[in-house]
Amino acid sequence: MNQPQEVGAPDQYGVVGHPVEHSWSPFIHGMFAKAAAQNLVYRLFDIHPDVFRRETLRLMTSGVRGLNVTLPHKQAAAELVNELTPRAARAQAVNTIAFFENTTLLGDNTDGVGLITDLTRNLEIDLADKRVLILGAGGAARGVVGPLLERELRSLTIANRTPYKARKLAAEFSDVGQIEGCTFGEIKGPAYDLIVNATSAGLQGELPQLPEGLVGESTVCYDMTYGRGDTPFTLWAGAHHAGLISKGWGMLVEQAAESFMLWRGIRPNTQPVLEALQS
Ligand code: ATR
Repeated sequence: MNQPQEVGAPDQYGVVGHPVEHSWSPFIHGMFAKAAAQNLVYRLFDIHPDVFRRETLRLMTSGVRGLNVTLPHKQAAAELVNELTPRAARAQAVNTIAFFENTTLLGDNTDGVGLITDLTRNLEIDLADKRVLILGAGGAARGVVGPLLERELRSLTIANRTPYKARKLAAEFSDVGQIEGCTFGEIKGPAYDLIVNATSAGLQGELPQLPEGLVGESTVCYDMTYGRGDTPFTLWAGAHHAGLISKGWGMLVEQAAESFMLWRGIRPNTQPVLEALQS
């Protein structure tokens, strides 16, 4: 007869953000861990920007083995770690930290691959030769600009409330493809093929003032805010009769799977989690 095996303390993981209580990451990583028989716990850590560095290092030294990083800490996390993967270095933004016993803090960015996997595999969208608009130029936008440009877009426009940040981000990637930065008021039609909301305005129930004519009947409107219900952006997209509206669940699950892979060496099957979230 099989004896019950002694199970050690679970490995600790989590997500740092501010606010963070809206996060579905514990649910997603919990499902991944169960399916892959991994003994781990995943918690929410609400950390204020003023104490991000100190508190994140404290979590690591207290035994946490890996963290996801969400708004507004993605750029601060890129400065905190002592090694960056090439894609995180390109983005200068980190959404995943792995802590190795030799005291290396490795920063990665799985947002881009998460978005591209959801768009191309789950939603079956071909990005080649498409006109794409990103709203926002913070840590969330930084992670997806490079991977989007690598899909040979016709053009990528980054619009931001603070125009300097949009223009700086565009300049950093001008060697990869056709890219420009502007204010919301400067966005020009015709309708875009894809509009990605990478602002955190929705968390305050807000949407930037956008010009008319950006949305056509085949425009895909994608919200990276991961709203449970409608967000100001998805309501705006609906009111303008967008061809497809996504609340960003797919990206959330796919980027989480890449983080899990970095931490545990196993790429989880995302389909059961996507189905569970949809229901
Ligand atoms: P994240 O990691 O989510 O990108 P962030 O780095 O704090 O978090 O960036 C937030 C983004 O949302 C920025 O582009 C910010 O614009 P600014 O650069 O002008 O600050 C944008 N944002 C936040 N609140 C906004 C609002 N009410 N209207 C428009 N843009 C907003």
